[in-house]
Amino acid sequence: MTVKIVRNVASLRREISQWKIQGLTIAVVPTMGALHEGHLDLVREGFKHADRVVVTIFVNPKQFGVNEDLSRYPRDEEGDIEKLAAENVPMIYAPTPDSIYPPGFSSSVHMEGPAMAGLEDKFRPHFFDGVATVVSKLFIQTGANYAMFGEKDYQQLQVVTRMAKDLDIPIEVVGCQTRREEDGLAMSSRNRYLSKTERQQATAIYKNLMQAAEKIRSGVNQQTATRAASRSLTTLGFKVDYVTARNAETLAVPQDEGEPLRLIAAAWLGKTRLIDNIGV
Ligand code: PAJ
Repeated sequence: MTVKIVRNVASLRREISQWKIQGLTIAVVPTMGALHEGHLDLVREGFKHADRVVVTIFVNPKQFGVNEDLSRYPRDEEGDIEKLAAENVPMIYAPTPDSIYPPGFSSSVHMEGPAMAGLEDKFRPHFFDGVATVVSKLFIQTGANYAMFGEKDYQQLQVVTRMAKDLDIPIEVVGCQTRREEDGLAMSSRNRYLSKTERQQATAIYKNLMQAAEKIRSGVNQQTATRAASRSLTTLGFKVDYVTARNAETLAVPQDEGEPLRLIAAAWLGKTRLIDNIGV
């Protein structure tokens, strides 16, 4: 199947309106490209919800901090097109920067609540406003019925869910399970930066989260369990940003017994920052 590639919002709307006239439903999968099996799982899940799946590829400058090198972000448009063609994706929206942020662009979607939980936001202060701004535009531009997001970026999933709700955008945000390598490491485009030894060590994040979840289920105090996980990662050579138990929806620090919990972690291994999370 040949994939149609559209570069601006006018062509996107033309194509989408043809589908809408036919009464077809649409799922959008927002990405920054350099696609791996985790992204492709979102596409497959999209097809379970909707008749047509549109994948967007846009490396969003507004979510990169000054010290995070936007130009170093991996790009592989040809490879991405091939992978998406193999999944029968009919259309890729890979907008030019001007199509998203035309000259004079002056708006920003500022998020609080789950975007200010003291997790990723603490280490990447402008990240979620950048994500919310681009994702709200992609939701509005595509007019999709469903949006597929990975649980891998758990705080981002909660932020975009809240944003769509707050702004009355008629789209259902669907969270999809984290795709993992055989040893448990969550797939990420950043994994390619790990050395051979680091790659072997990296699985410890998932293993420690699993152990902490098991302890909490058997009655150990959350803080005791997450602190032990953090200490164990530090001993293994990680520089831990956080390992914490949070309310699975609001991401607030848990108050009540019996709240749904998510264990969330971020840690550096050498020059690579890894994130992961699991349900309890
Ligand atoms: P990106 O990092 O390319 O991720 C695109 C989507 O793929 C996100 O929803 C992310 O959670 C999901 N994903 C990544 N790795 C995954 C894995 N191992 N298993 C399942 N899903 C996975 O996240 C972004 O791009 C950007 O912030 C974006 C939302 C596109 C806004 O610019």
